[in-house]
Amino acid sequence: MSELVLVLDFGGQYKELIARSVRGLSVYSEIRMGNMSADEVQRLSPIGIILTGGPNSVYLPDSPMCDKKIFSLGIPVLGICYGMQMMCHMLGGAVKRSEHGEYGTVNSTLKASALFKDVPKKNAVLMSHSDQVSKLPKGFVSIAKTADCENAACENVSAKLYGVQFHPETGHTANGREIMRNFLYRVCGASGDYKLDDYIDRQVKSIREKVKEEKVLLALSGGVDSSVCAALLSKAIPGQLTCIFVDHGFMRQNEGDEIESAFSKRNLRFVRVNAKERFLSKMKGVSDPEQKRKIIGAEFIRVFEEESTKIKNVPFLAQGTIYPDIVESGGKHGATIKSHHNVGGLPDNLKFTAVIEPLSGLFKDEVRILGKKLGLPQSLVNRQPFPGPGLAIRVMGEVTEEKLAVLRGADAILREELDAMKRRPDQYFAVLTDTRTVGVKGDDRTYDPVVAIRAVLTGDFMTCDYAPLPHKILGRISSRITSEIKSVSRVVYDITSKPPATVEWE
Ligand code: XMP
Repeated sequence: MSELVLVLDFGGQYKELIARSVRGLSVYSEIRMGNMSADEVQRLSPIGIILTGGPNSVYLPDSPMCDKKIFSLGIPVLGICYGMQMMCHMLGGAVKRSEHGEYGTVNSTLKASALFKDVPKKNAVLMSHSDQVSKLPKGFVSIAKTADCENAACENVSAKLYGVQFHPETGHTANGREIMRNFLYRVCGASGDYKLDDYIDRQVKSIREKVKEEKVLLALSGGVDSSVCAALLSKAIPGQLTCIFVDHGFMRQNEGDEIESAFSKRNLRFVRVNAKERFLSKMKGVSDPEQKRKIIGAEFIRVFEEESTKIKNVPFLAQGTIYPDIVESGGKHGATIKSHHNVGGLPDNLKFTAVIEPLSGLFKDEVRILGKKLGLPQSLVNRQPFPGPGLAIRVMGEVTEEKLAVLRGADAILREELDAMKRRPDQYFAVLTDTRTVGVKGDDRTYDPVVAIRAVLTGDFMTCDYAPLPHKILGRISSRITSEIKSVSRVVYDITSKPPATVEWE
């Protein structure tokens, strides 16, 4: 087993980024609940502990706290933002509201510390706080300051306790990766034994031990996670896997055929269920986005159940669950903005003896790397997110076959143009609005729908900025869509970020 760094979660938005940046430095990391007991921590024998940020104020009642005993286990601890404040508060220091909160990148002055080895003395750091440590606990010294924060970082070398008020895990802190590396290698003494290459071997072995000669079923959507899951399983248990691909008819141009051709060559049984008519008939008269999502999700489960009962003696269900799915479902959920539906999200009452989730330890970018190693085509491995309900939620209002055909054509043109860009936005697609406008084609007046283009820059897909696409490209897309697709009168560009908008229109 690899050396482990525990990331204890206090509700900060960067917990996955922290765990991912640790893994990126070849040290295995896992996110756990902030209040995990010191006994439990000791049982896992991590080489280091990182306390995340969080939205609370340590001096208010009911703010989450860690088990105080973890500070005396002799295991190195790095508290980040709230994590640093909590550590200082619990060990006898003081935290108070700052006169001026700091939000954004600010200049800091760093002192000599193992944490800052090879980092310039003047370093830009990302701050995002309204509280700060006003008095350090006994045994601690300040090792960084900014104009508004005397204790921007602190250490107690003999106790192996470190704190940073800023966020070294984000790209906005200069040399943040170096600071994380220093904590792992200079403070925790990591050897860097986490390699993704071993993951395939370990999983192949463990899948074989679990499945033996039995059969496995997988709902394949053609998305990155289920595709990599299928590739890994077909390597581990050739000939024992059946993939059911429910074609709901809301896929993009040629997408269903591409998925079929990528998987029909592999050592598995590929079943494509053509359920287009069935899904379309369910969409009749439905225009509310949430209703569309719910109906499609429910119908998907029904089709999958029907198909899976046709295949006898399959005790195992495989799912492309990945690590963030598990971390997210372990935490508190906010308000439901959209009921996201994924084909992996099957109900618990399906009649399987056991579920296999061979990607459940990996982050998305690790899954993509694994997919490449398993020989999946780039187009599948680097695929942009695509909602489970597909184009049905990119056609505004009621979904019909005609509207889907118009959107498919416009979307294919948009993708062809943006695929050719050197620095592409992170996600892009077309939307068919339910607004019609007047136009003129030849000598004729037209009254046809408007197509909207969405192209966004994002790392996490939880927030995004609209992409500042060059007007030349936008112009070309617009003229191609209006001339090549009959019945589109006008093309508009969506220049809204998230928040306040969402990425998808429905
Ligand atoms: P929103 O529209 O919620 O989308 O800002 C955020 C990201 O999630 C994708 N998305 C989905 N992904 N099932 C998915 O797997 C869904 O039902 C779904 N709806 C939205 C969206 O494309 C964006 O990348």
